[in-house]
Amino acid sequence: MSQSVQSAANSPTARETEPWWKTAVVYQVYIRSFADGNGDGIGDLTGLRSKLPYLAELGIDAVWINPWYPSPMADAGYDVADFRNIEPSYGTLEQGEAFIIEAHELGIRVILDIVPNHTSSDHRWFQAALRDEPGARDRYIFRPGRGPGGDQPPNDWQSAFGGPAWSRLDTGEWYLHLFAPAQPDLNWEHPGVRAEFEDILRFWFDKGVDGFRIDVAHGLTKDPALPDAGERLPGSQHTDPHPAWDQDAVHEVYRGWRAVANEYADRVFVAEAWVANNDRLARYLRPDELHTAFQFDFLRAPWRGESIRAVIDDALSQAGAVGAPATWVLSNHDVPRTVTRYSRSQPDHLVETDWERSRWAGEQPDLALGRRRARAAALLQAALPGTAYIYQGEELGLEEVEELPGEVRQDPTWFQSGFTDVGRDGCRVPIPWSNDEAPYGFSPPDAEKDTWLPQPGHWAPHTVQAQHGDPGSFLTLYRQVLALRRQLWTTDEPVEWLETPHDVLAFARGGVQCWVNTGATDTELPAGMRRVLASGPGVTGGVLPADTAVWLTEPEHDR
Ligand code: GLC
Ligand code: CA
Repeated sequence: MSQSVQSAANSPTARETEPWWKTAVVYQVYIRSFADGNGDGIGDLTGLRSKLPYLAELGIDAVWINPWYPSPMADAGYDVADFRNIEPSYGTLEQGEAFIIEAHELGIRVILDIVPNHTSSDHRWFQAALRDEPGARDRYIFRPGRGPGGDQPPNDWQSAFGGPAWSRLDTGEWYLHLFAPAQPDLNWEHPGVRAEFEDILRFWFDKGVDGFRIDVAHGLTKDPALPDAGERLPGSQHTDPHPAWDQDAVHEVYRGWRAVANEYADRVFVAEAWVANNDRLARYLRPDELHTAFQFDFLRAPWRGESIRAVIDDALSQAGAVGAPATWVLSNHDVPRTVTRYSRSQPDHLVETDWERSRWAGEQPDLALGRRRARAAALLQAALPGTAYIYQGEELGLEEVEELPGEVRQDPTWFQSGFTDVGRDGCRVPIPWSNDEAPYGFSPPDAEKDTWLPQPGHWAPHTVQAQHGDPGSFLTLYRQVLALRRQLWTTDEPVEWLETPHDVLAFARGGVQCWVNTGATDTELPAGMRRVLASGPGVTGGVLPADTAVWLTEPEHDR
């Protein structure tokens, strides 16, 4: 196999001359749930460092680590109390620095998560605001209420987690929080806020961090008049966008950040921006702004060849128009796991990310089907030009843990929705590493505490240990996919669509073809091609079964 791909590897060594982030595969580490070194049931830096060899063997280029800063954990660390330190239950700043060095030694870059839209209510700035120290409230968004006695919120904005986006202090003033009440929104009109974040970027860049994932990058600046939103929904296709989101003024912030990144070599930003469409997304990717932005339509696309193709075309043309690579993502810590998403009836159009949780409750998942599709999707994602993000546990084929009892749930969505939206805990369950029962090697054998979210009793076949070396396992497939991706493609070879039945997706890229059958019946593969990798059994005699993908090479590629 390795011989057959030599010719691709021999072509101009673009991989060496282009910036690393244009083709990188980035693995998302949800540190709370990755590996627990000290037995308190919570993932930490000791655990993460012990798994670096695993990550190196998987074949990734970088890790993105969810917020590791000191936090009261009102929103699993997205409520940051101090942006220049490390959460004590995860470890120390020294351990964080050691981790960056060790990762680099293994050829793995490190991307941190920066949370600029809000701080924790425990942050010294908000504490000063609560004490009403001079000027302290100006860093946040404080307003008097409406109505008699000012007991109505200043406008009608809703928190992303449910309920009003405003909370009232004893003194009578209201403050804005687009997420939990413990996450007050910063005032990005304030020059001190801007200066502080540029300084935080430098603090971590100086420690060798290779980039930042920007949390709710489409937030930050608001329409200064704070008008009612009325019918306008965040991210909706309105000509008149929601006044809290995707405001033009935010781009000036990112021009400043790009200038900071440019003071260093090879650094990257990736935006989490849930905006109305790829046209809006591309505005964040202009050459003097952010390098990359998650392509969420990819994970919102139903398992249908035509829908997925439309998403790919749109993403490639919009990112391409501003010279940015597309950034493919199938899953993350905010959305139901891929296996479960593909395990139920598929809608006709792009969906809201919380749709499965509410709409599908009650519909039994067919997890075997979901796993077949998720394996096929792994081949598809890796065959596309640009960068790819893999959320921890996807390489093990883990499903969403839907059976978590209410009393163990921790996502603020669960509480703020009045217990109607189960929230995101189901994709955050600690990783099973080994052994036949919980905690499956997540915590050391003598652990004092249970894992912070309980793991299912049936995960023994899904541990890393159980899958290691098994030729049919998810993990083996991911390792093959990532190794071959490096060999088969050098940089941004374009996607050329092939004629197919409408449920089938097929394209050629640099002498390789990727075929994905999203339909219910077999489809025919072209003759005379050599099979490089298939996502499942039955790819024989020119036939590609339903819910299966394959990579084929053209004969001249075989020399
Ligand atoms: C982003 C994060 C999510 C968090 C929210 C508020 O969407 O991915 O986990 O709850 O921002 O910071
Ligand atoms: Ca721990």
